[in-house]
Amino acid sequence: MKGRILLIEDELSMRLGISHALRENGYDIISCEDGNQGVNLLGHERFDLVITDLRLPGLNGMEVLSKAKEMYPDIGVILITAFPEVETAVSAIKQGAFDYISKPFTNEALLIVVKRYFNYRKLKQENVRLRETIKGRAQFENIIGESSVMKAVFDLINTVAPTDVPVLIRGESGTGKELVANALHNLSERKDKPFIKINCAAIPENLLESELFGHEKGAFTGAVQARKGKFEAANGGTIFFDEIGDMPLSLQVKLLRVLEDQEITRLGGYKGIKVDVRTIFATSKDLKEAIQEGTFREDLFYRINVVPIHLPPLRERGEDITALIEYFLKMYSTKYGKNGLNISPDAYKSLLAYDYPGNVRELKNAIERAVLLSTGSQIYVTHLPSVFRKMAEDLPCISEDLPLEEGVKCYERQRILKALEQTKGKKIEAAARLGISRKVLWKKLKELNIDI
Ligand SMILES: Nc1ncnc2c1ncn2[C@@H]1O[C@H](COP(=O)(O)OP(=O)(O)OP(=O)(O)O)[C@@H](O)[C@H]1O
Ligand SMILES: [Mg+2]
Repeated sequence: MKGRILLIEDELSMRLGISHALRENGYDIISCEDGNQGVNLLGHERFDLVITDLRLPGLNGMEVLSKAKEMYPDIGVILITAFPEVETAVSAIKQGAFDYISKPFTNEALLIVVKRYFNYRKLKQENVRLRETIKGRAQFENIIGESSVMKAVFDLINTVAPTDVPVLIRGESGTGKELVANALHNLSERKDKPFIKINCAAIPENLLESELFGHEKGAFTGAVQARKGKFEAANGGTIFFDEIGDMPLSLQVKLLRVLEDQEITRLGGYKGIKVDVRTIFATSKDLKEAIQEGTFREDLFYRINVVPIHLPPLRERGEDITALIEYFLKMYSTKYGKNGLNISPDAYKSLLAYDYPGNVRELKNAIERAVLLSTGSQIYVTHLPSVFRKMAEDLPCISEDLPLEEGVKCYERQRILKALEQTKGKKIEAAARLGISRKVLWKKLKELNIDI
Protein backbone atom coordinates (compact mmCIF):
# COMPACT_ATOMS: atom_id res chain seq x y z
CA MET A 1 0.00 0.00 0.00
CA LYS A 2 1.32 3.41 -0.92
CA GLY A 3 -0.48 5.18 1.90
CA ARG A 4 -3.73 5.45 3.80
CA ILE A 5 -6.10 8.21 2.81
CA LEU A 6 -9.34 9.51 4.31
CA LEU A 7 -11.67 11.17 1.80
CA ILE A 8 -14.45 13.43 3.07
CA GLU A 9 -16.79 14.44 0.26
CA ASP A 10 -20.55 14.86 0.42
CA GLU A 11 -21.20 14.53 -3.28
CA LEU A 12 -21.72 10.84 -4.01
CA SER A 13 -20.47 10.78 -7.61
CA MET A 14 -17.29 12.65 -6.70
CA ARG A 15 -16.70 10.45 -3.68
CA LEU A 16 -17.00 7.28 -5.73
CA GLY A 17 -14.94 8.65 -8.62
CA ILE A 18 -12.05 9.83 -6.46
CA SER A 19 -12.05 6.70 -4.31
CA HIS A 20 -11.92 4.54 -7.36
CA ALA A 21 -9.08 6.46 -8.98
CA LEU A 22 -6.96 6.45 -5.82
CA ARG A 23 -7.60 2.79 -5.10
CA GLU A 24 -6.66 1.90 -8.67
CA ASN A 25 -3.38 3.67 -8.05
CA GLY A 26 -2.52 1.60 -5.04
CA TYR A 27 -3.72 3.78 -2.19
CA ASP A 28 -5.73 2.47 0.72
CA ILE A 29 -8.78 4.68 0.92
CA ILE A 30 -11.68 5.14 3.34
CA SER A 31 -14.37 7.67 2.55
CA CYS A 32 -17.25 9.37 4.32
CA GLU A 33 -19.71 12.12 3.60
CA ASP A 34 -19.58 14.64 6.39
CA GLY A 35 -17.05 16.45 8.55
CA ASN A 36 -18.12 15.00 11.88
CA GLN A 37 -17.91 11.48 10.57
CA GLY A 38 -14.48 12.25 9.16
CA VAL A 39 -13.13 13.54 12.47
CA ASN A 40 -14.64 10.56 14.22
CA LEU A 41 -12.82 8.21 11.86
CA LEU A 42 -9.60 10.10 12.43
CA GLY A 43 -10.00 9.48 16.13
CA HIS A 44 -10.17 5.75 15.55
CA GLU A 45 -7.79 5.03 12.74
CA ARG A 46 -4.42 6.18 11.57
CA PHE A 47 -4.31 8.00 8.20
CA ASP A 48 -1.42 9.54 6.30
CA LEU A 49 -3.51 11.98 4.33
CA VAL A 50 -6.98 13.58 4.47
CA ILE A 51 -8.64 14.84 1.34
CA THR A 52 -11.60 16.95 2.31
CA ASP A 53 -14.14 19.10 0.55
CA LEU A 54 -14.33 22.60 1.97
CA ARG A 55 -18.12 22.83 1.99
CA LEU A 56 -19.48 19.96 3.98
CA PRO A 57 -22.40 19.12 6.19
CA GLY A 58 -21.42 18.91 9.86
CA LEU A 59 -17.93 20.34 10.27
CA ASN A 60 -16.59 22.19 7.24
CA GLY A 61 -13.23 21.48 5.62
CA MET A 62 -11.39 24.16 7.62
CA GLU A 63 -12.65 22.71 10.87
CA VAL A 64 -11.65 19.23 9.77
CA LEU A 65 -8.20 20.62 8.95
CA SER A 66 -7.69 22.13 12.36
CA LYS A 67 -8.99 19.05 14.22
CA ALA A 68 -6.85 16.74 12.12
CA LYS A 69 -3.72 18.82 12.73
CA GLU A 70 -4.51 19.00 16.40
CA MET A 71 -4.70 15.22 16.61
CA TYR A 72 -1.79 14.47 14.26
CA PRO A 73 0.50 17.42 13.59
CA ASP A 74 2.23 15.44 10.85
CA ILE A 75 -0.87 14.49 8.89
CA GLY A 76 -1.31 15.81 5.35
CA VAL A 77 -4.53 17.59 4.35
CA ILE A 78 -5.62 18.43 0.83
CA LEU A 79 -8.67 20.66 0.45
CA ILE A 80 -11.12 20.53 -2.40
CA THR A 81 -12.51 23.99 -3.08
CA ALA A 82 -15.06 25.40 -5.47
CA PHE A 83 -13.51 27.95 -7.80
CA PRO A 84 -14.37 31.17 -5.91
CA GLU A 85 -12.91 29.95 -2.62
CA VAL A 86 -9.27 30.57 -3.41
CA GLU A 87 -8.92 33.02 -0.52
CA THR A 88 -10.03 30.39 1.96
CA ALA A 89 -7.75 27.88 0.35
CA VAL A 90 -4.79 30.16 0.83
CA SER A 91 -5.57 30.61 4.49
CA ALA A 92 -5.97 26.83 4.78
CA ILE A 93 -2.42 26.40 3.55
CA LYS A 94 -1.27 28.90 6.10
CA GLN A 95 -2.92 26.74 8.72
CA GLY A 96 -1.04 23.69 7.65
CA ALA A 97 -2.92 22.17 4.71
CA PHE A 98 -0.54 20.58 2.22
CA ASP A 99 -2.34 21.92 -0.86
CA TYR A 100 -5.74 22.53 -2.39
CA ILE A 101 -7.37 21.62 -5.64
CA SER A 102 -10.22 23.58 -7.22
CA LYS A 103 -13.29 22.08 -8.79
CA PRO A 104 -13.68 20.99 -11.47
CA PHE A 105 -10.60 18.80 -11.63
CA THR A 106 -9.64 15.55 -13.29
CA ASN A 107 -8.62 12.48 -11.33
CA GLU A 108 -5.17 12.77 -12.88
CA ALA A 109 -4.77 16.27 -11.47
CA LEU A 110 -5.73 15.05 -8.01
CA LEU A 111 -3.41 12.07 -8.30
CA ILE A 112 -0.51 14.38 -9.06
CA VAL A 113 -1.13 16.36 -5.85
CA VAL A 114 -1.50 13.17 -3.82
CA LYS A 115 1.69 11.76 -5.25
CA ARG A 116 3.47 14.99 -4.53
CA TYR A 117 2.31 14.75 -0.92
CA PHE A 118 3.65 11.24 -0.46
CA ASN A 119 6.98 12.21 -2.03
CA TYR A 120 7.23 15.13 0.33
CA ARG A 121 6.39 12.89 3.25
CA LYS A 122 9.09 10.44 2.29
CA LEU A 123 11.66 13.21 2.04
CA LYS A 124 10.63 14.57 5.38
CA GLN A 125 10.95 11.17 7.01
CA GLU A 126 14.37 10.68 5.46
CA ASN A 127 15.34 14.03 6.81
CA VAL A 128 14.29 13.06 10.30
CA ARG A 129 16.25 9.86 9.98
CA LEU A 130 19.31 11.73 8.80
CA ARG A 131 19.05 14.11 11.70
CA GLU A 132 18.82 11.16 14.05
CA THR A 133 22.00 9.73 12.56
CA ILE A 134 23.73 13.04 13.03
CA LYS A 135 22.52 13.06 16.60
CA GLY A 136 24.06 9.62 16.91
CA ARG A 137 27.31 11.36 16.18
CA ALA A 138 26.64 13.61 19.10
CA GLN A 139 29.65 12.13 20.83
CA PHE A 140 31.18 15.15 19.16
CA GLU A 141 29.04 17.39 21.28
CA ASN A 142 31.81 17.44 23.84
CA ILE A 143 34.56 17.93 21.29
CA ILE A 144 34.38 21.51 20.17
CA GLY A 145 35.96 22.45 16.90
CA GLU A 146 35.14 25.04 14.25
CA SER A 147 38.48 25.08 12.46
CA SER A 148 38.90 23.18 9.22
CA VAL A 149 41.55 20.96 10.83
CA MET A 150 39.15 19.91 13.55
CA LYS A 151 36.35 19.32 11.05
CA ALA A 152 38.70 17.06 9.13
CA VAL A 153 39.45 15.27 12.39
CA PHE A 154 35.71 14.74 12.98
CA ASP A 155 35.35 13.27 9.49
CA LEU A 156 38.26 10.97 10.07
CA ILE A 157 36.84 9.83 13.41
CA ASN A 158 33.50 9.07 11.75
CA THR A 159 35.22 7.08 9.06
CA VAL A 160 37.55 4.97 11.17
CA ALA A 161 35.51 4.58 14.37
CA PRO A 162 33.36 1.72 13.05
CA THR A 163 36.42 -0.20 11.81
CA ASP A 164 38.99 -2.16 13.79
CA VAL A 165 42.07 -0.45 12.41
CA PRO A 166 44.61 0.85 14.93
CA VAL A 167 44.61 4.62 15.35
CA LEU A 168 47.52 6.72 16.54
CA ILE A 169 46.54 10.10 17.98
CA ARG A 170 49.29 12.66 18.11
CA GLY A 171 49.23 16.04 19.74
CA GLU A 172 50.74 18.19 22.46
CA SER A 173 49.54 17.80 26.01
CA GLY A 174 45.98 19.03 26.46
CA THR A 175 44.97 19.01 22.81
CA GLY A 176 42.18 16.49 23.34
CA LYS A 177 43.78 13.15 22.54
CA GLU A 178 41.84 11.33 25.20
CA LEU A 179 38.57 12.90 24.06
CA VAL A 180 39.22 11.63 20.55
CA ALA A 181 40.04 8.16 21.85
CA ASN A 182 36.75 8.15 23.76
CA ALA A 183 34.85 9.23 20.65
CA LEU A 184 36.47 6.47 18.58
CA HIS A 185 35.25 3.89 21.07
CA ASN A 186 31.80 5.40 21.55
CA LEU A 187 31.15 5.57 17.83
CA SER A 188 32.14 1.96 17.27
CA GLU A 189 30.16 -1.24 17.58
CA ARG A 190 32.26 -1.99 20.62
CA LYS A 191 30.74 0.90 22.51
CA ASP A 192 28.89 -1.29 24.99
CA LYS A 193 32.00 -3.34 25.63
CA PRO A 194 34.87 -2.29 27.91
CA PHE A 195 37.04 0.71 27.12
CA ILE A 196 40.28 0.18 28.98
CA LYS A 197 42.86 2.95 29.31
CA ILE A 198 46.44 2.40 30.16
CA ASN A 199 48.92 5.18 30.73
CA CYS A 200 52.31 3.84 29.75
CA ALA A 201 54.08 6.79 31.34
CA ALA A 202 52.45 6.36 34.74
CA ILE A 203 53.15 2.70 35.39
CA PRO A 204 56.63 1.54 36.41
CA GLU A 205 58.33 -0.68 33.87
CA ASN A 206 58.32 -3.80 36.02
CA LEU A 207 54.59 -3.54 36.68
CA LEU A 208 53.48 -2.67 33.19
CA GLU A 209 53.91 -6.13 31.79
CA SER A 210 51.71 -7.85 34.34
CA GLU A 211 49.24 -4.95 34.13
CA LEU A 212 48.90 -5.57 30.42
CA PHE A 213 49.05 -9.33 30.16
CA GLY A 214 48.13 -10.51 33.63
CA HIS A 215 49.99 -13.24 35.45
CA GLU A 216 49.61 -16.78 36.63
CA LYS A 217 49.80 -17.81 40.24
CA GLY A 218 53.42 -17.90 41.36
CA ALA A 219 54.70 -15.98 38.36
CA PHE A 220 56.72 -13.80 40.68
CA THR A 221 57.20 -13.38 44.39
CA GLY A 222 53.88 -12.24 45.79
CA ALA A 223 51.80 -13.49 42.88
CA VAL A 224 49.62 -15.56 45.17
CA GLN A 225 46.76 -15.61 42.73
CA ALA A 226 46.40 -15.61 38.98
CA ARG A 227 45.24 -12.27 37.62
CA LYS A 228 43.82 -11.06 34.32
CA GLY A 229 45.57 -8.21 32.58
CA LYS A 230 44.17 -5.21 30.76
CA PHE A 231 44.09 -7.03 27.43
CA GLU A 232 41.82 -9.71 28.80
CA ALA A 233 39.73 -7.11 30.59
CA ALA A 234 39.28 -5.25 27.32
CA ASN A 235 38.19 -8.35 25.43
CA GLY A 236 35.47 -7.46 22.92
CA GLY A 237 36.12 -3.78 23.45
CA THR A 238 38.86 -1.22 23.01
CA ILE A 239 42.20 -0.72 24.70
CA PHE A 240 43.73 2.75 24.74
CA PHE A 241 47.48 3.11 25.21
CA ASP A 242 48.18 6.63 26.33
CA GLU A 243 51.73 7.95 25.97
CA ILE A 244 52.79 4.93 23.97
CA GLY A 245 56.12 6.68 23.39
CA ASP A 246 56.95 5.98 27.03
CA MET A 247 56.54 2.25 26.76
CA PRO A 248 59.83 0.51 27.60
CA LEU A 249 61.57 -1.13 24.66
CA SER A 250 61.37 -4.57 26.22
CA LEU A 251 57.59 -4.37 26.28
CA GLN A 252 57.34 -2.89 22.82
CA VAL A 253 58.43 -6.21 21.34
CA LYS A 254 55.82 -8.07 23.35
CA LEU A 255 53.12 -5.61 22.41
CA LEU A 256 53.98 -5.94 18.74
CA ARG A 257 53.61 -9.69 18.98
CA VAL A 258 50.21 -9.38 20.66
CA LEU A 259 49.01 -6.97 18.00
CA GLU A 260 50.07 -9.36 15.29
CA ASP A 261 48.66 -12.52 16.83
CA GLN A 262 45.72 -11.09 18.79
CA GLU A 263 46.86 -13.44 21.49
CA ILE A 264 48.45 -12.84 24.88
CA THR A 265 50.36 -14.97 27.31
CA ARG A 266 50.06 -14.24 31.00
CA LEU A 267 53.27 -13.70 32.91
CA GLY A 268 54.48 -17.10 34.11
CA GLY A 269 51.98 -18.76 31.81
CA TYR A 270 52.67 -20.86 28.76
CA LYS A 271 49.43 -21.02 26.81
CA GLY A 272 48.23 -18.27 24.54
CA ILE A 273 44.87 -16.63 25.23
CA LYS A 274 42.99 -15.20 22.25
CA VAL A 275 41.79 -11.65 22.69
CA ASP A 276 39.57 -9.55 20.47
CA VAL A 277 40.48 -5.93 21.07
CA ARG A 278 40.66 -2.78 19.07
CA THR A 279 43.73 -0.70 19.83
CA ILE A 280 44.05 3.08 20.02
CA PHE A 281 47.32 4.83 20.84
CA ALA A 282 48.18 8.37 21.84
CA THR A 283 51.46 10.18 22.10
CA SER A 284 52.64 13.68 22.78
CA LYS A 285 56.15 12.68 21.75
CA ASP A 286 57.46 12.66 18.22
CA LEU A 287 57.76 8.92 17.64
CA LYS A 288 59.87 9.36 14.51
CA GLU A 289 62.39 11.19 16.63
CA ALA A 290 62.16 8.46 19.26
CA ILE A 291 62.95 5.91 16.55
CA GLN A 292 66.04 7.91 15.59
CA GLU A 293 67.06 8.03 19.21
CA GLY A 294 66.54 4.31 19.54
CA THR A 295 63.83 4.50 22.19
CA PHE A 296 60.97 3.39 19.96
CA ARG A 297 60.83 0.40 17.66
CA GLU A 298 60.25 1.19 14.04
CA ASP A 299 58.31 -2.03 13.39
CA LEU A 300 55.90 -1.18 16.21
CA PHE A 301 55.51 2.34 14.84
CA TYR A 302 54.40 1.05 11.46
CA ARG A 303 52.07 -1.38 13.13
CA ILE A 304 50.25 1.28 15.15
CA ASN A 305 50.44 4.21 12.76
CA VAL A 306 47.84 2.81 10.37
CA VAL A 307 45.52 5.78 10.78
CA PRO A 308 47.26 8.82 12.25
CA ILE A 309 45.14 11.60 13.73
CA HIS A 310 47.01 14.78 14.44
CA LEU A 311 45.60 17.35 16.84
CA PRO A 312 47.34 20.67 16.21
CA PRO A 313 48.18 22.91 19.17
CA LEU A 314 45.43 25.31 20.13
CA ARG A 315 47.44 28.40 19.17
CA GLU A 316 47.24 27.23 15.57
CA ARG A 317 43.46 27.10 15.51
CA GLY A 318 42.10 30.50 16.34
CA GLU A 319 38.50 29.70 15.42
CA ASP A 320 38.48 26.96 17.99
CA ILE A 321 39.62 29.31 20.74
CA THR A 322 36.49 31.44 20.36
CA ALA A 323 34.21 28.42 20.21
CA LEU A 324 35.90 26.85 23.22
CA ILE A 325 35.67 30.06 25.26
CA GLU A 326 31.92 30.18 24.68
CA TYR A 327 31.57 26.47 25.44
CA PHE A 328 33.53 26.51 28.70
CA LEU A 329 31.97 29.80 29.81
CA LYS A 330 28.52 28.31 29.42
CA MET A 331 29.56 25.04 31.00
CA TYR A 332 31.10 26.59 34.11
CA SER A 333 28.65 29.43 34.59
CA THR A 334 25.90 26.80 34.62
CA LYS A 335 27.90 24.55 36.92
CA TYR A 336 28.59 27.32 39.42
CA GLY A 337 25.16 28.95 39.16
CA LYS A 338 26.41 32.13 37.48
CA ASN A 339 24.27 32.15 34.37
CA GLY A 340 24.55 35.17 32.13
CA LEU A 341 28.19 35.81 32.99
CA ASN A 342 30.07 37.76 30.29
CA ILE A 343 33.70 38.23 29.43
CA SER A 344 34.91 41.82 29.30
CA PRO A 345 36.37 42.92 25.95
CA ASP A 346 39.85 43.13 27.43
CA ALA A 347 39.71 39.74 29.03
CA TYR A 348 38.46 38.37 25.74
CA LYS A 349 41.34 39.97 23.88
CA SER A 350 43.82 38.46 26.32
CA LEU A 351 42.22 35.05 25.91
CA LEU A 352 42.51 35.31 22.15
CA ALA A 353 46.07 36.63 22.15
CA TYR A 354 47.54 34.00 24.45
CA ASP A 355 49.57 31.13 22.99
CA TYR A 356 48.33 28.28 25.24
CA PRO A 357 51.33 26.04 25.84
CA GLY A 358 48.90 23.84 27.82
CA ASN A 359 46.40 23.88 24.96
CA VAL A 360 42.70 23.27 25.56
CA ARG A 361 43.27 22.06 29.10
CA GLU A 362 44.87 25.40 29.99
CA LEU A 363 42.02 27.39 28.44
CA LYS A 364 39.47 25.22 30.19
CA ASN A 365 41.13 25.69 33.58
CA ALA A 366 41.51 29.43 33.02
CA ILE A 367 37.80 29.83 32.31
CA GLU A 368 36.79 27.69 35.25
CA ARG A 369 38.97 29.75 37.57
CA ALA A 370 37.68 33.03 36.14
CA VAL A 371 34.07 31.95 36.57
CA LEU A 372 34.78 31.03 40.18
CA LEU A 373 36.63 34.27 40.92
CA SER A 374 34.16 36.61 39.24
CA THR A 375 31.91 38.46 41.60
CA GLY A 376 29.73 40.50 39.24
CA SER A 377 28.32 39.86 35.82
CA GLN A 378 31.66 40.12 34.01
CA ILE A 379 34.93 38.29 33.85
CA TYR A 380 37.81 40.77 33.82
CA VAL A 381 41.48 40.36 32.97
CA THR A 382 42.16 40.31 36.68
CA HIS A 383 40.22 37.05 36.98
CA LEU A 384 42.53 35.34 34.54
CA PRO A 385 45.81 33.71 35.55
CA SER A 386 48.70 36.16 35.56
CA VAL A 387 50.13 34.89 32.25
CA PHE A 388 47.01 36.24 30.58
CA ARG A 389 47.33 39.56 32.36
CA LYS A 390 50.71 39.91 30.81
CA MET A 391 49.07 39.51 27.45
CA ALA A 392 46.74 42.38 28.30
CA GLU A 393 49.73 44.58 28.96
CA ASP A 394 51.38 43.58 25.76
CA LEU A 395 48.38 44.40 23.60
CA PRO A 396 49.66 46.76 20.94
CA CYS A 397 48.08 50.07 21.87
CA ILE A 398 50.03 51.92 19.23
CA SER A 399 48.55 49.91 16.38
CA GLU A 400 47.32 52.28 13.70
CA ASP A 401 44.21 50.13 13.37
CA LEU A 402 42.99 51.49 16.67
CA PRO A 403 41.11 54.78 16.68
CA LEU A 404 43.12 57.34 18.65
CA GLU A 405 40.74 57.34 21.58
CA GLU A 406 40.89 53.53 21.87
CA GLY A 407 44.65 53.64 21.65
CA VAL A 408 44.84 56.15 24.49
CA LYS A 409 42.50 54.05 26.62
CA CYS A 410 44.54 50.98 25.86
CA TYR A 411 47.72 52.72 26.93
CA GLU A 412 46.10 54.04 30.12
CA ARG A 413 44.88 50.59 30.92
CA GLN A 414 48.34 49.11 30.44
CA ARG A 415 50.00 51.66 32.66
CA ILE A 416 47.36 51.28 35.37
CA LEU A 417 47.47 47.47 35.33
CA LYS A 418 51.22 47.56 35.51
CA ALA A 419 51.21 49.98 38.41
CA LEU A 420 48.68 47.84 40.23
CA GLU A 421 50.77 44.78 39.67
CA GLN A 422 53.93 46.47 40.91
CA THR A 423 52.14 47.69 44.03
CA LYS A 424 50.37 44.36 44.53
CA GLY A 425 46.99 45.97 44.04
CA LYS A 426 47.48 48.85 46.50
CA LYS A 427 45.60 51.69 44.87
CA ILE A 428 47.07 54.59 46.79
CA GLU A 429 50.59 53.54 45.91
CA ALA A 430 49.65 52.84 42.31
CA ALA A 431 48.11 56.31 41.97
CA ALA A 432 51.30 57.85 43.33
CA ARG A 433 53.39 55.89 40.86
CA LEU A 434 51.20 57.07 38.03
CA GLY A 435 51.32 60.65 39.26
CA ILE A 436 47.56 60.94 39.60
CA SER A 437 45.27 61.36 42.56
CA ARG A 438 43.52 58.43 44.12
CA LYS A 439 40.21 59.86 42.98
CA VAL A 440 41.34 60.05 39.36
CA LEU A 441 42.57 56.49 39.58
CA TRP A 442 39.20 55.33 40.87
CA LYS A 443 37.47 57.12 38.03
CA LYS A 444 39.76 55.59 35.47
CA LEU A 445 39.38 52.10 36.91
CA LYS A 446 35.66 52.48 36.46
CA GLU A 447 35.87 53.98 32.99
CA LEU A 448 38.30 51.35 31.80
CA ASN A 449 36.34 48.52 33.34
CA ILE A 450 39.26 47.39 35.43
CA ASP A 451 37.89 45.31 38.23
CA ILE A 452 40.45 44.88 40.96
N1 LIG B 1 38.11 20.13 21.36
C1 LIG B 1 37.79 20.11 22.66
N2 LIG B 1 36.56 20.45 23.05
C2 LIG B 1 36.23 20.44 24.36
N3 LIG B 1 37.05 20.10 25.34
C3 LIG B 1 38.30 19.75 25.01
C4 LIG B 1 38.73 19.73 23.66
N4 LIG B 1 40.01 19.33 23.62
C5 LIG B 1 40.37 19.10 24.89
N5 LIG B 1 39.36 19.36 25.75
C6 LIG B 1 39.39 19.27 27.21
O1 LIG B 1 40.70 19.60 27.61
C7 LIG B 1 41.18 18.70 28.58
C8 LIG B 1 42.39 17.97 28.06
O2 LIG B 1 42.00 17.06 27.04
P1 LIG B 1 42.60 15.60 26.93
O3 LIG B 1 42.79 15.00 28.28
O4 LIG B 1 41.82 14.83 25.96
O5 LIG B 1 44.01 15.99 26.32
P2 LIG B 1 45.26 15.09 26.01
O6 LIG B 1 45.69 15.46 24.65
O7 LIG B 1 44.92 13.67 26.27
O8 LIG B 1 46.31 15.64 27.05
P3 LIG B 1 47.56 14.88 27.74
O9 LIG B 1 48.57 14.66 26.67
O10 LIG B 1 48.05 15.88 28.75
O11 LIG B 1 47.04 13.64 28.33
C9 LIG B 1 40.04 17.77 28.92
O12 LIG B 1 39.36 18.29 30.03
C10 LIG B 1 39.16 17.84 27.71
O13 LIG B 1 37.83 17.63 28.05
MG1 LIG C 1 45.66 12.38 27.70
